[in-house]
Parts: sequence; structure tokens; C-alpha cells
Amino acid sequence: MENIEKVRSQFPITKNRVFLNHAAQSPLPKPVADAMHKYIDESSSFATYAKEYEDLGKPFFAKLINAETGEIAVVENTSVGMNIAANVLHPKPGSKIVTTDLEYPSVVYPFLRKSLGVEVEYVKNVKGKVLLENVERVVDDKTAAVAISHVEYANGFRHDMRAISEIAHEHGAYVIVDAIQSTGAVSVDVKRDNIDFLTASCYKWLLSPPGAGYLYVREELIQKFEPPFTGWASVKQEIFNTTDFWDIWKLELSETATRFEVGSPSYISLVGAREALKLLLSVGISNIERRILGLTDHLIDSIKDMNLDLQTPEEKACRSGIVNFRVENPRQVAEELGRKGIIVSARSNGIRVSPHFYNTEEEIDALTDEIRKRQK
Ligand SMILES: Cc1ncc(COP(=O)(O)O)c(C=O)c1O
Repeated sequence: MENIEKVRSQFPITKNRVFLNHAAQSPLPKPVADAMHKYIDESSSFATYAKEYEDLGKPFFAKLINAETGEIAVVENTSVGMNIAANVLHPKPGSKIVTTDLEYPSVVYPFLRKSLGVEVEYVKNVKGKVLLENVERVVDDKTAAVAISHVEYANGFRHDMRAISEIAHEHGAYVIVDAIQSTGAVSVDVKRDNIDFLTASCYKWLLSPPGAGYLYVREELIQKFEPPFTGWASVKQEIFNTTDFWDIWKLELSETATRFEVGSPSYISLVGAREALKLLLSVGISNIERRILGLTDHLIDSIKDMNLDLQTPEEKACRSGIVNFRVENPRQVAEELGRKGIIVSARSNGIRVSPHFYNTEEEIDALTDEIRKRQK
């Protein structure tokens, strides 16, 4: 990355911590914090807001995932996005949902509610990988949807979403993707990969505060589904905008993905997210992905050098920003590293390391030096 020092000057965290925990919650870059401060100042001094905030960051998120702005709704978080998708499907009795045994709870729980009346079938991982042949074996004509994380939260395994969509669609099943661990770190392309629903909070790889998230719904599906929650934000705004009256006698749902919005979102979070998305787009997601994979290659070399057990599948095509290696007492190790200013997480009997594009090989070395010291 050209001029890494200039990049790092946008990340105040670099002065205080070796922060390698973007799979948990990211620190805010300076332009993001500045935009949020400006919003607070404006709202406290004038109770007015810049016109530019009105798009709620949707055009920038759309660009990042290769969607149209009209296919994007704002949601509070990934879990809400997953629940919206789960509740619009109305699967036939006897249907099933296919997922994997590596999933985060919010991908699976919305489908485990008894009232939904579906079975959930888990494709089992093989040494941290979910094999396409096993997905193919489980998905059948009873499958209403495949619900899956693009990148798995504990070991960073990245699914081939295009191949999974192909399998699902052959059986008439929808593809519902939790992209919180991929968007902002690696390439996400809903058109290339034929995705039906995709959702992500912005507080991890999208370098934003909690409270901002987006839901993508494929254009052809938007008007097919009635939203599970409705409020002023779900309907066409034209009547109110021209007459200052709401038509409360009928429900005229928006023809765009805003029909899945309900009421006032967390504007301050979205002001931050909007700025963060602009920053990420200006760097370019392919540059970010290349940089992250370079840093994680460097980390994997050191892990192998120390003869530690790598829990992340190694092939480039299924790698992401997350690397996990096994240690004894991972929670204690993560806490001790934290006291030395090196921030990582304990997950799945190991240490989960998740660097972003502004991190350096020297920071990775600071972590592995500490791990080496513990081995002596
Ligand atoms: C794969 C995955 N999905 C969902 C979440 C939580 O999402 P949210 O807080 O946006 O509901 C996490 C958080 O760690 C995650 O790793």
C-alpha cells in the first residue's frame, strides 16, 4: 500500500494499540469520528442536518456490493436483517433451511423459532471447510433457503457464494447471506454471486459505529414480499411529501427496498457509516483485500514457523481477514495480550486475529513475538 503512514494517520488507534480485532468491533477512523462530531454539533446548535446525510449511506453500500441503491434498506444490525429475510419467506409446511455447523447464532436462530415451521439442516464442516459436494448433498427440492455467512466468524472460512447460489437456485431455494465478516474486507458482489438477500452491520470491517447496517434484497424480489414490520418508513413517501398528510387508510408499500424499513434509524451511526464507506471505496476493495491477504499470509507463515495449529483453512480462495490458531487457555492469552496493547479475540479454542488494510507486518510481528515468548 502506497504511503501507509498517510493511511495510518487517519486511524488514531494506531498511536495507542496494535489493533488486530476487526472481526469484533472496529475503532473509528478520524474522518468517521469527525463526521459524527459535526452531526452532533449541528443538531445541538441548530437542530438541522446537512442535506448530504439524507441518503443514509445507501448509495455507497450499494456500490460496495454491486447493487442498486433501490435494493438497499437500512437496518439496525445483521440480526435484524436476517430476521426480516426469515420472516418474509413464508415457507411451505415441510420445508427446510440449509445452513452450516460453523454459523454465528443470528444466522440460524431466526429459523429455529417453532412458529416458522421449518426444519434446519446443518452441513458439517470438514477440517474447518464446508465442501460444496456436501452442500449439494443436503440442498434438495424441500429447501426454502440456504442461510449462510459469506465468511465464517470463528475460523474465517470464505464460502464460494456463486457456487452455493447455483446449487440453491437449481432447487428453487433462496440465498440469504450474512456478510458482516466479509463486506469491507474482501470482494462482495451480489450480482456476480446471484444473491437474493444480504445483510451486514457496519461496526466490523466497515469501520463504523454500531447501530448502522444494511439489507440488500434482489430487485425482482422486493415487491414479491410483504415486510414483517411496517411503519411510516415502509410506504411511498410521495403523498406525504406533496400534501403533508399521511394516508392512514391504506398501506401503499414502497416499491424499493425501503419497504423493509420501519421508522427512524440511528442517524448518527449512519452518518459515521456513510463516511466510512466513502473512505473504503476511495481505497478500493481489491486493494484492501490484497493488503489484508498479504498481512494474513505473513501471520500464517509465523504460525507455521512456531508449529502452532492453524485452524483457518489455508487455500487463498477460501481465506478472508480472519486467522485462527490454537493455543492453551485462549481467553487468558487474549487478556494478557490486551494488557500489552495487542488486541485480538479468543474464539473456538484459539486466538482469532483480524487485521485491516491499515495494519502493518510489524504489528503482526509484535503479536507473534509475544506468542513466541510464551512458548519458551
Ligand atoms: C457472522 C456474524 N453474524 C452476526 C454477528 C452479529 O451481528 P449484529 O450485531 O450486527 O446483529 C456477528 C458478530 O460477531 C458475526 O460474526
